[in-house]
Amino acid sequence: MHNIIIQIVYYASAILFILGLKRMSSPKTATSGIQWAGIGMLLAVIVTFLSPNMHNFALMLLAIAIGSMVAWMAAKKVAMTAMPEMIAMYNGMGGGAAAAIAAIELFKLSADTATAMPITTFILAISGALIGGISFSGSILAFFKLRDWLKNIYFPMQQVVNLCILAAAILLGALSYFWHSNFIIILFFAASLSYGILMTMSIGGADMPVVISLYNAFTGLAVACEGFVLNNIALIIAGTIVGSAGTLLTMLMAKAMNRSLVGVLFARFGGGNGTIVEGTTKSMEIEDAAVMLNYVNKVVFVPGYGMAVAQAQQKVWELASLLLEKGIDVKFAIHPVAGRMPGHMNVLLAEAGVPYEYILDMEDINNDFQNTDIAIVIGANDVVNPAARTDKTSPIYGMPILNVDHAKQIFVIKRGKGKGYAGIENLLFFNDKCRMVYGDAKQVMTKMIQTLKEQE
Ligand code: TAP
Repeated sequence: MHNIIIQIVYYASAILFILGLKRMSSPKTATSGIQWAGIGMLLAVIVTFLSPNMHNFALMLLAIAIGSMVAWMAAKKVAMTAMPEMIAMYNGMGGGAAAAIAAIELFKLSADTATAMPITTFILAISGALIGGISFSGSILAFFKLRDWLKNIYFPMQQVVNLCILAAAILLGALSYFWHSNFIIILFFAASLSYGILMTMSIGGADMPVVISLYNAFTGLAVACEGFVLNNIALIIAGTIVGSAGTLLTMLMAKAMNRSLVGVLFARFGGGNGTIVEGTTKSMEIEDAAVMLNYVNKVVFVPGYGMAVAQAQQKVWELASLLLEKGIDVKFAIHPVAGRMPGHMNVLLAEAGVPYEYILDMEDINNDFQNTDIAIVIGANDVVNPAARTDKTSPIYGMPILNVDHAKQIFVIKRGKGKGYAGIENLLFFNDKCRMVYGDAKQVMTKMIQTLKEQE
């Protein structure tokens, strides 16, 4: 009877995960989508306590209490701009949990030499352990790199060494089926964890978002594999959803950056540091820039990471609304990797109440820049850098960019000479049509609004 209740609740949780994910596809229903999925997870955790052969209730409750408390505090505190780090950390925890489940099953197998695990279950356990282990150590390293606590590390024959470690992990995993030894299993985990670290070490620059999303997919796959080992329907469905959603996101992000997955994993982005740009930039006072907005027909706002840092989205929309009232055609251009997480700019603009009809994706607006009187770049840098088109030595070479340089006039709002995520000079800033309007994005927006209002 217990078992039937457990299975029914697991199915109900899985349905809540799927419906929750569906609701996350629109900003309007996203919050409730997260809540639905959360309720599904809570149900799955509660009902697991009814499973037969459960021991150590106190220890489990203590672990859940500590984990929930840490997660609650971290989620309350995390800044929107630090979301990718947080996602990397959570991915890692999921992968680690899947690898830990596999470790218990594999150690049980090695202790009990009389019983053999069916080969398919064994393959799933080892695959989950390998993928989960890689995702765990790789995600933790990604967290350190996103925090800027670690730089990219390169060494000679890096890819060959990496492949040898991966091959060793697979070989040790296969060996542990025939040779029940704790030592082999420990070596297998050491190789898997090392591979995660080695693989992530050399990936950097603009490739990080793709890798984080790939680890997300890995974690899902690992959880699904362990779901089969434990015969747990909720794990299988949740893992498959995360695995497939993560795979799709990885493919979309790689496409948005014009990169192949093999290129992300095995080749350095662009392979260089970019050509040193010679020339001068021209700056403009905030008030003068605001006044010029009175004499145009079409303005395109291009938000980037700096808008998120400054939390300027409300002010940007206030300025855009003023221009709309003057009969000016206003649009927002969104690059798929602007900011620090997928959909970052869409979330911020939706939060500020910008109606969707004004927000256009890169491919829908890129041909429109030539008809744009003024493009206002607000804290964006890499995603508008024309070096991506022309400079083969640039670490962002090949990444599609927003054609801001095609606009008739360009204002770039940023605080100073700070570089973007890829750490390179921006050719756009040296363009004759470009004027640098220095200052914090929110303060510049406030001053522009004030100037325009004073003129009315
Ligand atoms: P970035 O290239 O990172 O440039 C941000 C710019 O904002 C900086 O040059 C900085 O210059 C300026 N800034 C910072 N604080 C500001 C403030 N308070 N007010 C005004 N400006 C401010 O941004 P982007 O163009 O959005 O490109 C995103 C980059 O991040 C890409 O390289 C992408 O690959 C990478 N990335 C993306 C993701 C995802 S999934 N979106 C995840 C990880 C990494 P100052 O310091 O001079 O102000």
